[in-house]
Amino acid sequence: MKHISLLASKIILLSLFSTLAFSDQVTEITKVAEITKVADKASAQLLKTLGKNMKFHLKNEGLVAAAKFCNSQAYNLTSKVDEQLGKNIEIKRISLRYRNPINQPSKDEKEILESLHKLKNNNVTLPKSLLQNQNSTTTKYYKPLIINKKVCLKCHGVLKSSSKISNFINRSYPEDLAQNYKLGDLRGAIVVTIKKELSK
Ligand code: HEC
Repeated sequence: MKHISLLASKIILLSLFSTLAFSDQVTEITKVAEITKVADKASAQLLKTLGKNMKFHLKNEGLVAAAKFCNSQAYNLTSKVDEQLGKNIEIKRISLRYRNPINQPSKDEKEILESLHKLKNNNVTLPKSLLQNQNSTTTKYYKPLIINKKVCLKCHGVLKSSSKISNFINRSYPEDLAQNYKLGDLRGAIVVTIKKELSK
């Protein structure tokens, strides 16, 4: 009798455990989905803002003017989107081969970018985004940015030496690392940092 009840209590305990583990998993999946949704929206907002302005300047004023626009406004526009997103969300662009040193990744971000490059070099199709738990309150979202349009190469590809665009870029960014890319290369990432309060 005693044996049976011990066994029964073990079964009850075991099933309780697995239920808890399952509900924890559900919570985790919900959290991932929720954070991804918010960060997807934030990164789309940034890409749209930068893309729309870039297109306008390219079409109406030409290549060098568009580069001048990026030089003077890309970071300001990013900060503006960052402000609009509120204090629990931060957004920025990073690259291992950055043009503007302000977009240099931090140590942990550098490791993620290096991993992404490694995966890409091994012919792994990169995920649309990934999440990194920073600590109990903060999650970082990374969206890989690919050189996905020919137009990117006008300023990030092989720049003809002494062309107007080459002169402008090399003068504005004497330490530029963001040239000689090819179509399909991993250019960097958008990073969205999300504080936990959001997903409560
Ligand atoms: C007209 C020139 C031009 C074109 C076209 C262009 N870029 Fe850039 N890009 C720049 C300049 C200039 C900067 C530096 C901006 C700054 O100083 O904040 C930059 C910065 C970036 C950055 C931030 C990281 C860094 O290196 O500082 C990323 C990411 C980026 N470009 C990706 C792209 C992609 C992807 C495309 C194509 C969709 C593209 N760019 C097209 C000129 C251009």
